[in-house]
Amino acid sequence: MNKLTTLLLLLALFLASCQQQPESQQQTTQTSQKWWKEAIIYQIYPRSFKDTDGDGVGDLKGIIEKLDYIKSLGVTAVWLNPIYSSPNDDNGYDVSDYRNIMADFGTMEDFDLMLKGMHERDIKLIMDVVVNHSSDEHEWFKQSRSSRENPYRHYYHWWPAEKGEPPYRYSLFDEKGDAWKYDSLTNAYYLHYFSQKQPDLNWENPKVRQEVYDIMKFWADKGVDGFRLDAFQFAAKDTTYPAFPEGFEKNFIDYYAMQGNLHEYLQEMHREVFSKYDVMSVAEGAGRNFEDAHNLVDEDRNELNMAYAFEGVDIAKPDGYSLGHFKEVFTRWDSAFAEKGWLSIFLANHDQARLVSRFGNDSTVFRAPSAKMLNTFILSMRGTPYCYFGDELGMTNIGFETIDQYQDIAAINGYKKVKHQGGDVEKYLKDLKVSSRDNGRTPMQWNDSEYAGFSTAKPWLPVNENHKTINVAAQESDPNSVLSYFKKMTQLRKDHPLLVYGDYEIIEPEHPQIYAYTRKLDGKGMLVVLNFSAYDAGIQLPATLLLGDIMINSEPGLERRGNAMTLRPYQAVIFALN
Ligand code: NOJ
Repeated sequence: MNKLTTLLLLLALFLASCQQQPESQQQTTQTSQKWWKEAIIYQIYPRSFKDTDGDGVGDLKGIIEKLDYIKSLGVTAVWLNPIYSSPNDDNGYDVSDYRNIMADFGTMEDFDLMLKGMHERDIKLIMDVVVNHSSDEHEWFKQSRSSRENPYRHYYHWWPAEKGEPPYRYSLFDEKGDAWKYDSLTNAYYLHYFSQKQPDLNWENPKVRQEVYDIMKFWADKGVDGFRLDAFQFAAKDTTYPAFPEGFEKNFIDYYAMQGNLHEYLQEMHREVFSKYDVMSVAEGAGRNFEDAHNLVDEDRNELNMAYAFEGVDIAKPDGYSLGHFKEVFTRWDSAFAEKGWLSIFLANHDQARLVSRFGNDSTVFRAPSAKMLNTFILSMRGTPYCYFGDELGMTNIGFETIDQYQDIAAINGYKKVKHQGGDVEKYLKDLKVSSRDNGRTPMQWNDSEYAGFSTAKPWLPVNENHKTINVAAQESDPNSVLSYFKKMTQLRKDHPLLVYGDYEIIEPEHPQIYAYTRKLDGKGMLVVLNFSAYDAGIQLPATLLLGDIMINSEPGLERRGNAMTLRPYQAVIFALN
């Protein structure tokens, strides 16, 4: 055997041994390092962030103006809600041109400058991709509805009226709850899972899929770093439109999510787009169960990078939630993804009321402590944290009283539906006051001026009156503010990979007030202790936990003797473990 052959043989043996390595010895997906696992994502609702042209609507130049602020938070990526051309039936989630910027928000030049500014600051940009549906004002739909023979006809779902009424489909935003809309132009119904102005795209048509991949490549070529796929779990459909059982809408996810060839489409998207760029990918929703969620994100499937599951954020109902339920849900999800797959961690977004009003306590006394505690939770769990703009200040619900105060189509059409069905309108408004999406969409509170420094004109949605005291300017100069604490917490996460990759274990799961858990990696550990209540809370931690330094404490001190301690209301403490 000559030297080269020996070398090749050795190489072949080496490669074979790598392949045969038992799974337990391989690096698990959980610890394999990825920038998107280490990312701290800051979600910006552009309409509400900062207006620079005085029209009362936020814009891209506003984001550019605030890039240093965003950087100062310690976040490493921004997820932007849709910024494409749109008639704004659903604030940009109804796209009329996927390759253009919404006039309200600025121009493509602004976009390029914004992206450049982010990259100069080492901040990545995640774009929202809204392709379960488009706007009815998109050229594709205009063509599609114009005649049954039009080449774009099958870009959407049509049901010819001569076949009778289509089988009932539930719409989330329709004022009658009906997802089929009759269009007399071609005597047919089109499908819209959301509003009538959001017709569903026909993913079963390969041309539609190719259009979408081309759009995604257009943005990836511009240098964006990731995609969030809006409502994508609903994209694939059985186009024979079978009848669903009566009342299916109560569990519509079971009938709408992960249907047909959805996984094939994602694998195709992966081949066509994700595999060609260093971009992260996350879909809104994670299917009906863990199996669906794993099928979406396990690395060997080549679909998406991380799941964005709703069970956590759905825990809080208008009348509150129980800590036991909260712990159980987050522990169950963590353990289901301990070995494989990756999760998003979030408690708020643009579809929810404010973090502190929903999961904490927005009274004058407890707002700041509970906001700090909740941010500690989000930034100390395993998974990629998503922090919604304004939650770094502890912004609260605005709490509208009457229906005319709302801008959100979901709220307005929901109201019409309850009225139409003869339901309890009072109860609807009462629940809406605490749970409406508009609570989370009021303008960013930059300072105590008339429009909170968001705009010089009357904003599209009123600023919360409490901006006089809750605002960036006030909190930046206060070392004990929610904002200052938030920055310390992002730094702690960035300094300690164990907060990203470390194993999670719940401690004293039955404790009625405290949520405590450890995070451990490579012989190092931390203990997170969170008081979720408005009362002092004592806990005796197991002697096996050797508590070291306090890494962060949301309150000035801690009453403690060894492993026994009493946390003040909503206090959050993280210890190093020896
Ligand atoms: C989910 C988005 O998060 C929400 O804001 C939007 O209304 C629907 N999808 C429809 O696009």
